[in-house]
Amino acid sequence: MNGKVVLITGASSGIGRSTAEKFLNKGYIVYGAARTEEKLKYLNEYPDGYYQIMDITEAEMRKNCVQEILAAHGKIDILINNAGYGAYGAIEEVPVEEARRQFEVNLFGLSELTKLVIPGMRENKSGKIINISSIAGKIWTPLGGWYHASKFALEGLSDCLRNELKDFGIKVILIEPGAIETNWAETAGENLLKTSGEGIYQKQAQRKASKYKIMYGEGGIAAQPEVVASAIIRAAEDSHPKARYAVPVHAKLILFFRWLLPDRVYDFVTNKFF
Ligand SMILES: NC(=O)c1ccc[n+]([C@@H]2O[C@H](COP(=O)([O-])OP(=O)(O)OC[C@H]3O[C@@H](n4cnc5c(N)ncnc54)[C@H](OP(=O)(O)O)[C@@H]3O)[C@@H](O)[C@H]2O)c1
Repeated sequence: MNGKVVLITGASSGIGRSTAEKFLNKGYIVYGAARTEEKLKYLNEYPDGYYQIMDITEAEMRKNCVQEILAAHGKIDILINNAGYGAYGAIEEVPVEEARRQFEVNLFGLSELTKLVIPGMRENKSGKIINISSIAGKIWTPLGGWYHASKFALEGLSDCLRNELKDFGIKVILIEPGAIETNWAETAGENLLKTSGEGIYQKQAQRKASKYKIMYGEGGIAAQPEVVASAIIRAAEDSHPKARYAVPVHAKLILFFRWLLPDRVYDFVTNKFF
């Protein structure tokens, strides 16, 4: 047991769950938060595992979550902002309420939770805030407008936060996963077809949905969530962490080509791929 306290949002499945388990196996005290209690109960199987039922968009739940941890342990050493989903669909067809919800979950809920954790970290003159972004925070893909917008925004917010907090001993790190085998693609695909599966964008939506099935299906490029969890652990344990970690290798390659290619060429390649 190393006595460090970690709070992970979106810990009920995928990357969040895998990360929680990795931290628990390394002797950290881990609080996992999400909305689905049934899927958080695995945390109880560990002596230092706890869960909090929290919808990241609910102010009262965010406050209670942080207060309970501080009351029990007096500190949060590492905050992992991982909860998120993809509100896919053509920009013309995504209702503004859904676009707002995308930002409430992926950005504003995250930033409000972070604001509750910062004062304690500042007092302790240490802490790590690890934000799970995506390569989607640097590139575009068809019919992903609001998801990309939310992750691009998270990249900018995290860059500013990293520099605002550096003099207080708090480190802010971005993780940029590529395709990872979790529930994420299914949710994004469902949202895509619900919003744009019929009507003027039907063809684009069907094409993207079937491409996702290939990418995330058996033999596809999607990696296991443990790969991301390992990068998160690396970032959490490094005394001089990088600002960004892109994983797995395909994520690094995609970001390299995005950096290298002019917009027109990148658009062509992306449209061809999808
Ligand atoms: N999988 C990928 O290919 C991929 C690639 C790049 C980045 N990411 C990012 O990685 C993060 C984790 O996603 P994942 O791939 O592990 O997908 P996932 O298995 O669908 O996990 C998403 C998590 O977020 C939680 N969540 C969703 N809405 C929430 C809300 N309103 N309040 C609180 N928790 C909420 C879910 O829990 P409940 O439903 O129980 O609340 C779940 O635990 C996301 O930020 C995603 O954008 C994923």
